[in-house]
This record gives sequence, C-alpha cells and structure tokens, in this order.
Amino acid sequence: MKTMLRGKDWIETVDWSVEELETVLEVSSDLKKRFALGEPHRLLQDKTLFMMFFEQSTRTRNSTEAGMTQLGGHAHDLTPDKMQISHGETPKDTGMVLSRYGHGIAIRNCFYGVGNKYIREVAHHSSIPVINLQCDVDHPCQSIADLMTIREKFGSNLRGTKFVISWTYAPAYARPLSVPQGLITLLPRFGLDVTLAHPPEFNLMPRTIEAAKKYAKESGSKFEITHDMDESFKDAVVLYPKSWGCHQYLEDQKVPEADRKKIGMELIAKYKNWVCTERRMKLGKKEAVYMHPLPADRGAEVEDAVIDGPQSIVFDQAENRLHTVKAIQALTMGGRP
Ligand code: CP
Repeated sequence: MKTMLRGKDWIETVDWSVEELETVLEVSSDLKKRFALGEPHRLLQDKTLFMMFFEQSTRTRNSTEAGMTQLGGHAHDLTPDKMQISHGETPKDTGMVLSRYGHGIAIRNCFYGVGNKYIREVAHHSSIPVINLQCDVDHPCQSIADLMTIREKFGSNLRGTKFVISWTYAPAYARPLSVPQGLITLLPRFGLDVTLAHPPEFNLMPRTIEAAKKYAKESGSKFEITHDMDESFKDAVVLYPKSWGCHQYLEDQKVPEADRKKIGMELIAKYKNWVCTERRMKLGKKEAVYMHPLPADRGAEVEDAVIDGPQSIVFDQAENRLHTVKAIQALTMGGRP
C-alpha cells in the first residue's frame, strides 16, 4: 500500500500508480463507513482548500466543500469573477499567493485546450497540492468515484467485465470530453474490458486513446471503439451512456473558433437516436447497471424509465463523489509530515 501522498497533485489518474489509486479507494471506503457511523474524522482540522470554479457544478462543488467541512477544515468557493483572474492575474501568481494562505487548491476549468494547461501551470508554481475538479482532459474525481461504485456492485476482481462508455444525444450544450477520457484511461488499468461508442465526429483526444490502448495491453484487458450504439451494448455489465461535444473533431477539421458552436450543435442534432432506452438496456447482461455522472438530460440522453429504473445506480455513484474526494483531500493535504 503506497501511503506517502502528502503534497501530491491530483490532476489526472494517469499521474498516479495503480498502488496509489488502490490507497485512494481503500481510504474512500474507510471514510464512507465512518461517515455512515457518525464517527468524527477531522483529519484536516483547521486546513483550508481554495476551490476555483470556471464552470457551474452541483456535485463537484458540494461534495468537495462538504468533504472539507466533514474533515474539520474549510473550503472557499471561488469563481474567476470573484478573483483578479478576471483582470488577467496569471496562474503562476494565483498559485503562489494561495500557497501562502492555505493547504490545497482545487480547480475546475474545462475550456478546450486550456483547462489542463491552466491547472498544471497553477500546480507548477504552488507549494501546496492541486486537485483537478474537471478539465478538458480528465475528470479524475468522477472516474475514481465511478470505479469505487463499480467495485461495490461487482467486487474488486473486474477482469472480463464489459464496460461501455457510449455517446448520447443531448441538445442543451456541448459537454467536455473529460468524463469519457477519464474512464477509458482509468478502467483498463483495473481489468475492465472497455468499449467506447460514439458517432464518428465525437472522437476523443488522441493521447487518451493511446493511453487506453497501452493500459489495456499492459493489464491484459480489452479496449475497443465502435460507431454502433446497439452493438456496443451487447453483453455489457456496466453501461455508461452520456453526452459529450465534438471538440476534438472541430479541432482536427480546423474549424474557426467563431463557427464551432453552431457546427457542433448541428452535429449533435444529427444523432437524435443515440438515446439510452429500455430496449437498449435489454441488450446488456441480465445483471447490467446504468451509470451516469449527472447532470443527465432526461428525455434526450436517457429515458426516465431507465434512469429511475432498477438498473440505475446513478445516486450511489453521486454519493461516492463525497467519499472519494475526502480520501483525496485527506491523503494529499493531510497525512503525516
Ligand atoms: N458529475 C459532475 O461533475 O457533476 P457537476 O458538474 O454537477 O459537478
């Protein structure tokens, strides 16, 4: 068990070894039990986390802030308009100043081609750990909670378990690629056979595809890509249908910035039949579960009968966001000096 994690940044799960990720999962389960028993676990007494949200959030914001309170510390809920970021203060100066005041910095910045670089720039200049609350590349707080949830349902030996991350239709807005990318770069390392399904224009960042292939090869699991939603669902044990935008395709096609929103929304509208339906859920195994990181676009991405049905584990998944972020906070911001 690797426990020397104090001060380590949590930016992408690929930065952490399997042994270190196992520690996060073990501590998450321990904190979940302690929370259920009402047992105090003030592991970060009087410590401060600065949360910087460049985008909206329900789960990440509230699990991260509640986590700090439950661990005996405090979180500042910040947005760029509350900070001098809005007047151009650099990530370097922001990171250096916040390092003088507290014990951790947590950032959500999903702007395509910008978010991950921004977080890494802050981390480079900070003397305290930086936690990625979602960027354009990864959503590590989500994928580790998802892995915890899958293990709770199916045990820790997931070899041969078919996991499907499928694109879905959602007309409201173009979501980041970081959830599917986070899943394909994490789950093959833990033995799951991962299938990625999407219409051709909704491809992911090449470096995440390469990482998924490499991890699948190293661990003896499978990683496959298909453009057929029905085909992907066949014999799956974990079904994770959710929407994302065509940011990488627009980049590949060198579409001018001013045209991206319009073209992106037109491409989403081409695939209205990519919906998680009761019929499609029946293509999976009898014991198959439905997962979604939320917020779900009900009626577009998924039928109510599925997300509210007996196969859905979306609220267990959302709950585990709390226990896993607390483990990340406690291990990186606390621990022994
Ligand atoms: N799943 C997730 O990150 O949800 P929020 O956008 O509400 O934080």
